[in-house]
Amino acid sequence: MVKRIIMALVGLAFLGSIVALSRVTAEEKGKDVIVLKSAKAGDVTLSHKKHTEEYKIKCTDCHHKTKEEETPKACSSCHDPKEKKDEAMILKDAFHGQCKGCHTKVNKEQGKKAPDKKCKECHVKKQ
Ligand code: HEC
Ligand code: HEC
Ligand code: HEC
Ligand code: HEC
Repeated sequence: MVKRIIMALVGLAFLGSIVALSRVTAEEKGKDVIVLKSAKAGDVTLSHKKHTEEYKIKCTDCHHKTKEEETPKACSSCHDPKEKKDEAMILKDAFHGQCKGCHTKVNKEQGKKAPDKKCKECHVKKQ
């Protein structure tokens, strides 16, 4: 009897995990293309979809404080635009560090041409 109850509980837990896995919505994946607004330097367009599907970068490589099963939050929820908080550098340095950091690495190691030095390859000013 006890064994049956345990088996039933294991079964329920298993079903629960399937339901949880199938709940990946558009919101949890984020947009295909994200425009990062910039007051001075010009907006930056990030192809979220290309970075994950074509360049095969893991969600958690960019959303570095997020666990596999969590929905990522905006970088600004920890990286303040103006001041360093709880060890988290200011927002601009967080973006530059992550975007340019990886680009410089893949350019060097894999001969890619990801933008890292020229501001204009990322920042596009409105006419
Ligand atoms: C190349 C880096 C990169 C990769 C890879 C990446 N993301 Fe993102 N993602 C970003 C950036 C940058 C933003 C914008 C964050 C912001 O506005 O502060 C973002 C935004 C999001 C948002 C919206 C967050 C919010 O509330 O503003 C979600 C959800 C998200 N991503 C999920 C994912 C998932 C799921 C994956 C993997 C399938 C993924 N991302 C892969 C960089 C990345
Ligand atoms: C939940 C809080 C949180 C979120 C969300 C977050 N960060 Fe961070 N980040 C930190 C903290 C804290 C540090 C300080 C070093 C550490 O603890 O890893 C950090 C460090 C960094 C670093 C330095 C190198 C490293 O990996 O340690 C970069 C680059 C960075 N963050 C970029 C980003 C970007 C870009 C986003 C959004 C896609 C983001 N962070 C989202 C908290 C966060
Ligand atoms: C972990 C590695 C990695 C990170 C982090 C990363 N990228 Fe990239 N990015 C790449 C690779 C790989 C390419 C493709 C280069 C090539 O094919 O020559 C690329 C290409 C690009 C391109 C040009 C082609 C395209 O897809 O539009 C832009 C623009 C770009 N990245 C913006 C960003 C921005 C903005 C961020 C930060 C929010 C970022 N990337 C973070 C790896 C990365
Ligand atoms: C790999 C892409 C990339 C390159 C190359 C790059 N940036 Fe950025 N930069 C970003 C991202 C992403 C942000 C954060 C979102 C935003 O503010 O546009 C940012 C933010 C900024 C900000 C803070 C926002 C603002 O408007 O005040 C400044 C200033 C800036 N960048 C200047 C520069 C300059 C100058 C260069 C060239 C030396 C440069 N960036 C090169 C991606 C890049």
